[in-house]
Amino acid sequence: MKSIGVRLAVWYVLASTVTFASLFLVGRYFTERHAIRALDLLNESEFEQIKSRLGPAGEPLGQPAIQQRMRETMADDLNLFYIEIHQADGQVLFASHNLHGRTIFTKSGRKAFNANVSGLGELRAGAFTLGPLNVVIATSKRHVRDVMVGYEQTFYGLLAVMIVVSSVIGYGLSRMALRPVRLIEETANRISSDNLSERIPVSAAQDEISDLARLLNQMFDRLESSFDQIRRFSAEVSHELKTPLTLIRLQAEKLLVEGNLAPPQEQAVQVQIKELEQLNRIIEELLFLSRAEARAITLDLKVQSTEGFLHSFVQDARVLAEFQGRRFFHTHHGEGCVAFEQKWLRQVLLNLLTNALAASPPDGRITLRSVLVDGLWQVSVEDEGPGVPAEQREHIFERFVRLKRSGAEDKGSGLGLAICRSIVELHGGRISAEAGAGGCGLRVVVELPTADSVAIAQ
Ligand SMILES: Nc1ncnc2c1ncn2[C@@H]1O[C@H](COP(=O)(O)OP(=O)(O)O)[C@@H](O)[C@H]1O
Ligand SMILES: [Mg+2]
Repeated sequence: MKSIGVRLAVWYVLASTVTFASLFLVGRYFTERHAIRALDLLNESEFEQIKSRLGPAGEPLGQPAIQQRMRETMADDLNLFYIEIHQADGQVLFASHNLHGRTIFTKSGRKAFNANVSGLGELRAGAFTLGPLNVVIATSKRHVRDVMVGYEQTFYGLLAVMIVVSSVIGYGLSRMALRPVRLIEETANRISSDNLSERIPVSAAQDEISDLARLLNQMFDRLESSFDQIRRFSAEVSHELKTPLTLIRLQAEKLLVEGNLAPPQEQAVQVQIKELEQLNRIIEELLFLSRAEARAITLDLKVQSTEGFLHSFVQDARVLAEFQGRRFFHTHHGEGCVAFEQKWLRQVLLNLLTNALAASPPDGRITLRSVLVDGLWQVSVEDEGPGVPAEQREHIFERFVRLKRSGAEDKGSGLGLAICRSIVELHGGRISAEAGAGGCGLRVVVELPTADSVAIAQ
């Protein structure tokens, strides 16, 4: 069972049921004892009556006289009692007619006992001595049985009610007890790397749960400060590297312009300039990511038609693709406006296009699809390259994650898709990767909410 709440409720129900069943068994034992004791008293009082009819103990009476007096005694007993009178040698002097010739087996030495006479069922009997006579008086235990059956039926009915009621109470109690834990869970769930300032509310009570909440809050404090340090570090390092790098590049360009270099040296300087460009780009990208994480980038969102934006992007994309010997196609369905900043979205699509071009085989097809449906604008870029295995599709959006591309020129930084995700999320959208049509290639899908769906949500 997964949920502690359910387990607590089940334990509560079990404990209540066991307690209730134990009480029932004890109650049943005493009720039965009392009822049997009542039968014994009934037998005893009948014996007192017989005693007064047959005269004081030891009075010698013949069998006919005994039978005559007994019949008179039993006339108003309504067949309640089964009576046998024997002599000390065992000879039966009288047997009540409701015994129909059967005898009650007397357990030697016991005054009150249970007897089972076939045809009469269970009896409660008492053995008494009256002078030389032995008198056995018995009563049916049927009434006691009836009472006990009624008692059991009531118990089962009450047990069912009790299980239902204790389940409800148990569930309510466990929910109440676990409320602080749920609160911790919900808050901890909301706390992520870009929302590290939130804390779990701590109740004034000094109990285990509030201790745990305090402990977790201290852990979040430590996490927040280390995250801050990392952010500040990468922002500062990138910033500090920019100026010296620009100076190195200017120096290198100056060397080229002066033209005093031998051809091999000139070539080396050109390689340096190219590498410096790449380094500069990585630094720019890192700076962008740190600023996006610190929420220091403000978007200039404009509600605009998607068609106009795509029209201009598609023209550039086609030129770029054809220049690299790839075929470019695009489709657009639906109408609507979306709030976005052109500069950033263009960068996202350019990054996706660059990746698709790098992955595509020569003369490969790159398809840009745009659909406006159900309050979402979906733009996807798909290629016919090798694709990315399903288990790595989520990782490619992380920083510095680069998978080996066979044969492709290796000049990426592994930051392109991380930047795309940052930009898309700043726009309130999502970006994901899936397999291309027919299972080959990769399709990266960007989803942004349309302006009217955002307005409805607010
Ligand atoms: N269209 C694609 N087809 C195959 N792999 C891709 C595609 N797009 C991205 N990838 C993989 O994801 C990795 C990360 O991409 P990205 O963040 O743009 O970094 P970079 O392009 O600088 O390597 C790439 O190195 C590549 O392995
Ligand atoms: Mg890239």
